[in-house]
Amino acid sequence: MKVIGLMSGTSADGIDAALTEIRGEGLKTKIKLIAFETYSFPRKVRKMILNASDPKTARIDQICHLNFYLGELFAEAARAVAKKAGLGIREVDLIGSHGQTIHHLPREKREGGYKIRSTLQIGEPSIIAERTGVATVADFRPRDIAAGGEGAPLSPYLHYLLFSNNKKGLAVQNLGGISNITFIPARAGIKDILAFDNGPGNMLIDGVVERLTQGRSRYDKYGRRAAKGKVNSGLLKQLLKHPFIHQPPPKSTGREQFGARLIDDIIKSAGRKKIPITDLMATITAFTAHCIGISLEKFILPRYQLVEMIVGGGGVGNPVLMSMLKERLKPLRISTFEDYRLDSDAIEAIAFALLAYETIQSRPGNIPAATGATGSVILGKIVPGTNPNC
Ligand SMILES: Nc1ncnc2c1ncn2[C@@H]1O[C@H](COP(=O)(O)OP(=O)(O)O)[C@@H](O)[C@H]1O
Ligand SMILES: [Mg+2]
Repeated sequence: MKVIGLMSGTSADGIDAALTEIRGEGLKTKIKLIAFETYSFPRKVRKMILNASDPKTARIDQICHLNFYLGELFAEAARAVAKKAGLGIREVDLIGSHGQTIHHLPREKREGGYKIRSTLQIGEPSIIAERTGVATVADFRPRDIAAGGEGAPLSPYLHYLLFSNNKKGLAVQNLGGISNITFIPARAGIKDILAFDNGPGNMLIDGVVERLTQGRSRYDKYGRRAAKGKVNSGLLKQLLKHPFIHQPPPKSTGREQFGARLIDDIIKSAGRKKIPITDLMATITAFTAHCIGISLEKFILPRYQLVEMIVGGGGVGNPVLMSMLKERLKPLRISTFEDYRLDSDAIEAIAFALLAYETIQSRPGNIPAATGATGSVILGKIVPGTNPNC
């Protein structure tokens, strides 16, 4: 099947669109990436997403509107990536769309005798199916939550298919807005996978740069600002007390814990301590690397042998973050998806193409050991296509 995966992560930087060809089943599944592109969001769209994600600024009329608007943008991204591959959209069999997370509340809240966890991804799949004619699977996370899980992380299924092996324990580390790890022990069955969110990825780095430049810069390009500064050990120590980092898995997080409020606190705290901006950038970048280090030391290394970490996501483009990570995890071997002839930026979009492929064939895609669900479930909601092939 030719399957397009569409993904926009918590960074809200743009839509990752991957056109793949997938065949086979289970560990024999073969996935070929035919075309990939990130379609950046215009500044205004990103602002709409961030406003809709923060309880202080969110408005229900705007969320309602944005759900359908993002549906149009996701549909446009699907058409564009098909064009890039030299295919007509009607030659595509299936679309898997993660959508845009605007809220994620995985901690249980008691309500009317029920224990409620919730998550909200928008980018209306009916629009995607209508504009493209292609059957669209979306809203992957709620079914895992219904089965008692966190609804995240979901990319471990792809990581498992790509990297399970008989020889060595491997970790796949994604550096998106949030960072998340999938640990695959040697000779692992799917039940042996360990996966969870480590804490912030680029989210705090982006947030602080955006705030300090009044929105002129959206991220610390190539880590240039952090490279000029020194890590402030007092502030780093304070940041490392964040409870999420020490909470045992299963766990997942987002802007609710590492978004605007924490960024405000950090900037205020740095102001009081008279920490220069470059040092603040170095410290936040180090914090991101240390969160990953702590999660390995607490939850993986005491029980397993880890030989290599394969890193992906936008953070690979930040050499300061990468070198801090290498330093913090020494002597662990660190590689990137590119070392395996894969594209660091495309992996998450490919993951949702794969999950749609499983769903349309009535096969489960969650890994209960990763999400905490009580069992395997078929993920997502299917919007039929108008194309007779779908
Ligand atoms: N050249 C670069 N230098 C520094 N940071 C980068 C670079 N390229 C990408 N990034 C970081 O990667 C982020 C996007 O990563 P991505 O994997 O798309 O995250 P998400 O899945 O949350 O959307 C950007 O917001 C930015 O912080
Ligand atoms: Mg992104």
